[in-house]
Formats: sequence, C-alpha cells, structure tokens
Amino acid sequence: MRWRNAILAGVGLVALAAPVSAKVTAPAGAKVFRLDGGGVTYAMGVDEKGYLQPLYWGSALAAGDPLISGDPVKTGDPIVLKAPGELSGFDPAGSVTLQEYPGQGEGLVSEPGVKALFADGNRDLVLKYRSHKVSGETLTVELADIRRPLFVTLTYTIDPATGIVARSARVRNGDARPVRVDQLAAAVLSLPVGDDYRLHYLTGRHAAEWTQKTAPIEAAATVLESRRGSTGHGNNPWFAIGREGLTSEEHGPVWYGALAWSGSFRISVGSDNLGRVRIAGGYNPYDFSWTLKPGEALDTPVFYAGYSGDGLGGASRTFHQFEVAHILPHGTKARLRPVLYNSWEATAFDVTEAGQMALAEKAAKIGVERFVVDDGWFGARNNDKAGLGDWTVNPTKFPNGLKPLIDRVKGLGMDFGLWVEPEMVNVDSDLYRAHPDWVLNFPDRPRTEGRNQLVLNLARTDVRDHLLGVLDKLVSENDIAFLKWDYNRNWTEAGWPEQPVADQQRVYVEYVRNLYYILSELRRRHPKLEIEACSGGGGRVDLGIIGLTDEVWPSDNTDPADRLTIQDGFTRAYPVAVMMAWVTDSPNWANTRVTSLDYRFLSSMQGGLGIGANLDKWADADFATARKWVAAYKTIGETVQRGSLYRLESPTGDNATSATMYVGQDKRQAVLFQMLHSSMWRDNPAAIHAQGLDPARVYSVRMLDGSARPAGVPAQASGAYWMNRGLRAPLKGDYVGTAFVFEAVN
Ligand code: DGJ
Repeated sequence: MRWRNAILAGVGLVALAAPVSAKVTAPAGAKVFRLDGGGVTYAMGVDEKGYLQPLYWGSALAAGDPLISGDPVKTGDPIVLKAPGELSGFDPAGSVTLQEYPGQGEGLVSEPGVKALFADGNRDLVLKYRSHKVSGETLTVELADIRRPLFVTLTYTIDPATGIVARSARVRNGDARPVRVDQLAAAVLSLPVGDDYRLHYLTGRHAAEWTQKTAPIEAAATVLESRRGSTGHGNNPWFAIGREGLTSEEHGPVWYGALAWSGSFRISVGSDNLGRVRIAGGYNPYDFSWTLKPGEALDTPVFYAGYSGDGLGGASRTFHQFEVAHILPHGTKARLRPVLYNSWEATAFDVTEAGQMALAEKAAKIGVERFVVDDGWFGARNNDKAGLGDWTVNPTKFPNGLKPLIDRVKGLGMDFGLWVEPEMVNVDSDLYRAHPDWVLNFPDRPRTEGRNQLVLNLARTDVRDHLLGVLDKLVSENDIAFLKWDYNRNWTEAGWPEQPVADQQRVYVEYVRNLYYILSELRRRHPKLEIEACSGGGGRVDLGIIGLTDEVWPSDNTDPADRLTIQDGFTRAYPVAVMMAWVTDSPNWANTRVTSLDYRFLSSMQGGLGIGANLDKWADADFATARKWVAAYKTIGETVQRGSLYRLESPTGDNATSATMYVGQDKRQAVLFQMLHSSMWRDNPAAIHAQGLDPARVYSVRMLDGSARPAGVPAQASGAYWMNRGLRAPLKGDYVGTAFVFEAVN
C-alpha cells in the first residue's frame, strides 16, 4: 500500500510494510550500499574521490562478497573504491568514472541524472556523496554539487519478495538564487560492458499498440519517449534487456524496468563511449524545464527496476506479482474484473434509454456482471464534434436522467458503468464557451484540434477543482460503480500563459500530478468506485495510472487474432489482472477479419472478459454460445486474472499456433489456451507442453467448453506428465482455438 502512495504523490518512496533486507555496509576506507531481496542484489559505493559508483545489479550475492577489489585480509590495507583518472584528452575523469547518478558536468558524455543552469550562467554540475540514511527499509543517499548548494537525494527500496528496486530522485536548490533544472531522471541504471545486450521494448499507434521490438544495445542510444503530454501509444515506459544467446522466454538474465509516470517521459538505453550500458529514465527534457526557487525541490516519479534469471517469462511473472501486490489500488485484495458489457461498438453515439435498456436485458441473459454506457450520453454529444466538457445527461436521450436505466441494470443483477473523458473539451460546448482560457494554448496562436477537441489544462487548480466537482457530483447523484475514463488526443501548443514565463513548462508535471490528485480524491470520496484507464485504447498505460485505476483498455483493436499479439505485448509489462478484452462483432471493424464467436471468446477469455458486440443483431445460437463461454469463464477467471502467465507459444513467432497458460497461485488450477491462426494440409501440430504445474501433483484435465477430451489426452496425470509428455489438441481450420483446464486432484 505504501508503494502506491509514493506513486500517487508522484514523489519519492515510502517504506514497505513487510520486512526487507536493505543493508548498508561501510568497510574500512569505503562505503558500500547494498540492497538485497527476492534473490536480487543491488549495490553501489562511494569512491576515493567521493563519486557514487554503481557496483552490481543482478542475482543475489552472498553476504560479505567483495563488491570492490582488494584483499584487506592479506594486505591489511583499507579497501578503497578506485576513482579512475583521465583516460585520454578526450576522456576526462568525470566521464570515465561510472556514476550512479551523474550531474551534467565535468565532461560527462552519457545521459545525466540532472542538468541545471545556475543564475550566473554556470552549467557545470558535479555530484558527489554527502550523506546517507537507512530508515526502516529505505536507503537514501544524498549527493551535492562540489561547489554550490544543489542537492540530489536518491531513494531506494527493494521488495523482499521480488527484488524489484523502486528508485526516485529529488533535486533541491539550497541557494539564494533560482536554478533552472533542464533534465531530471528518476534513475540511471548501469550494466557491465557487453556487446550482446538486446533491448526489448513496446511500441505502436492507435489500434496497434503493444508491438514488440528487439534491438541491439549499441553506442548509439535507443530513446523510448513520449513528447505527447501523456504516456502515448508510441513507446511505453517499460524496457527489458536480455543477452543474445543466453536469454529466452524461460531462461537467462533479464533486467527490466518501468517508469510510473503518465506524462511525457524519456528512457534512453545505450552504451557509453567505453561500452558500458546505461539506462536513464525520467521526465522528458524535450520542451521541459523547472526553475527551482530558493529552497524549492522537485521530485521525480518512481522508476521500478527488476532482475530475473528466468528469462522474459520469469521477468514478467515477477513483475506481475509485484504490480498486483504493490501497484493496484487494492493490491491482492482487489476484486476480480467482473464480466462487462460495453455499448460503444454496438451503438457509438446513438445512445438512448430504450436502446441501452434493450441491450442490458440481453447482456444480463448471457451472465454479464457490469453494464457500461459509453460515449454519447451527455450534453449535445450526437457525434464527436460537440458536447465534451458538459457532463450533464442529455435530456432527449435520457428524459428522466440515468436513474431508470441504472435501476433496470441493477434490477437485472448487474452494476452500472459510465464513460467520461474529463480532461477534454469540444469547442462546441458550454464549458468552452464559458472558459476558453481553460485549455492548453499559446495566446494568439492556433489551437490545434484532435478529434475536434482541445485539452483542458489540468495544471490549473481551477480546472482541477472543476473536474473533481463535476465527477464527484456525477458519481454522488447516480448509482455508478464504474467509470471508463477516456483521453483521446495528444497535446499540441502546450502553453500555460497565466504562469510567469519561467514556470510555464511546469505544465508537464503539474498536469499529471493534478490528474493523479483527481483520481485519488475521487476514489477517496467513493471507495467502492472502480475506474478503467483508456486513452483511445492503450494510449495511457503505465504504473502511474495503474496505481489509481482498476483496469485498463489495452487497444481499440478488438480483432481477436490481432488481440493475441496485443495481449502478448501488453503482458510483457503489465498484469493480466488489469487487462480487459472484449468479444465484438465479426467482421471486425479494424481489419474486416471474419472469425467465429467461439474463437472470439477464446481470445478475450485470456484477459478480463468483456463483451462489446451488438447484441441486437445476435441470433439465439449466439446467445447460447455466449452463455456457455461466460459461465465457463467464471470457473477460471481467478486463475486467468491472478495466476502466473506462461507464454508457451508466442503469436508473434512463426508457429501456426500460439498458446498461453495460466497457473493459479496455489497451483491447484491451470488453464491452457491454444489458438490456431491458419492450417495447411501438411500441418501436424506438435504436442504442447504445459508449464508451471506442480510436477508431483495429479491433475485432471477437462475442456473449458465442456466438450469431450481429444483422443490421446488422458483424464488425469501428474504435473510432470503434462509438462514433459504434453498433450495435443486436434486443431484444424483457420482461427480456431481450444482451452484445457487442469484441476489438482490431490
Ligand atoms: C475511444 C475508446 O477507446 C473507445 O473504446 C470508445 O470509448 C471511444 N473512445 C468513445 O469515444
């Protein structure tokens, strides 16, 4: 819970509730700080000149292992962490010394932690160790410039269960004059010299998010960033690094991390001119500066960094475990995602009381647990040209307000959800007519519209308070269990003209902080309210927003085959626990692909199941199919959403099939989905081997849809049998799938 508070404030860390072994040792002549937990060791040390140098990040070392060279037992000399000198005229000592968090100064040629401009024009910043503190399980190390009172506090906490280190930084101006901060990282991370590192990252665009890319890590840095004001569809603030030839899905070293920030960010990954791999992540310096007044401090968001020796699959399982336990608002006590119906693909803006009631009746018959009215219920919202900002019920569409619909939905045994897009405004809206100055803008410059809308400047406290008031009223006056919180454009003309010029670029930070404030305050006032984060699909998915919402909408692309690759990419970084997946109509709007309803269900059941099809067009047989699958999903929902995910076969590879497996935390239930993309006459798919089961336990197996087991698949066998001998599903055709459910019998 305390980790979540740290994100919420967008500031440094607070200690974990559980005990953690964060040790700080200072052998004679040197100070070495070491964090141990979850099979991971992270260490740094102060060298003879006072620089803080990274020493190690990887699999746990033994207590007392020598982290710096020297053998005081034999020599009797104190152990000293050497500070390298100049290497050549082109490589001064400051750039040759590997620093845990360097200032931009003294010839640094890699990414700095902080870059500053002092009032007298000085731009040289050299950070050296000043002090450290261990408070409970948190280590803080203070660095200071060698001449001026500019201080940086680095905060570290290691999670005892997963070894994930949460890092953040605070820069403070102790001078009597202002200092402008032009760049500020939450963390700089280092890996030893090597030319076999491979960077894995996620990229995409609207309706094509979560595309996986791999690139060698070289002297030319790869920059993962958003300049959009929000996280964006382009790059996600997550990375994983493996080693060529050593790292695979289930084996080998992986270093990974994610920045808990929903605004413009930058993570750069590359090796410096001496071949040492450096990862720096924090606020995006593009168009950013923050002038620190005397005595003022600026905090970064938290950068979470983990290590796994069990490949990319091991890394994501560990990260999921951490995210569920420490990032989700209710942690491991969070409700499972209810089966949801959403009207967007069925009705678009054509939302009426009668139409939604008819859909609700049909949804309830299938076993849906939550009914969500999407865009179009408010203001003059008959299309995307008007109404955003006016969060009052449209009297033509809902003459008696939302109450009759909500009562009906609840009477049918479902709870009620509503779409909002609070941060935006249409020019054709009462809100914009009343407050044209409330949007991001530069005076006397054009205001670029995106989807006919402008971005409200949440950095302004009057805008923040207005939105909180409107949402609070909406939720207070209506029995709303769930808000789908959308956000459908990027920033342009990111001006905040009411601020002094030196403070206008604070908008990049203050906006996000106020967004977090609204979300957290709304949750505080309405503790039962659940929220889905959506940004034209997956345009704002990161650990900051996940810490304040209950689920996310990964993509507007609901094609079930595309969705397999989307889900494969999404779960590299984020847990199935928050990943919603809807069954929609065929042909799919995104690519016109035609698929069966069975296939669509099997795809969506690999996440939090939702339905977004036009139920008014369904035949009786479709309802029967849907009823069957929804009932089946309810028998495995917890295993899918909270189990450990094994990617048996990736949908991005060359295989005709892809397969995922979800193993419950107690290993008593597991589900294996196998999906066939398309078959050829010569195909003879190989047996698929389960993973993650208890080899000594006996498991029965059944088909999720209740059909008979395929020939050759025994009724029960040991976990060892299912993992080593495997089983074969007789898949034939195009876009077909199946699911096996394993249940422990002893
Ligand atoms: C974008 C979302 O991703 C969709 O699901 C839908 O809510 C539309 N916005 C509504 O405008």
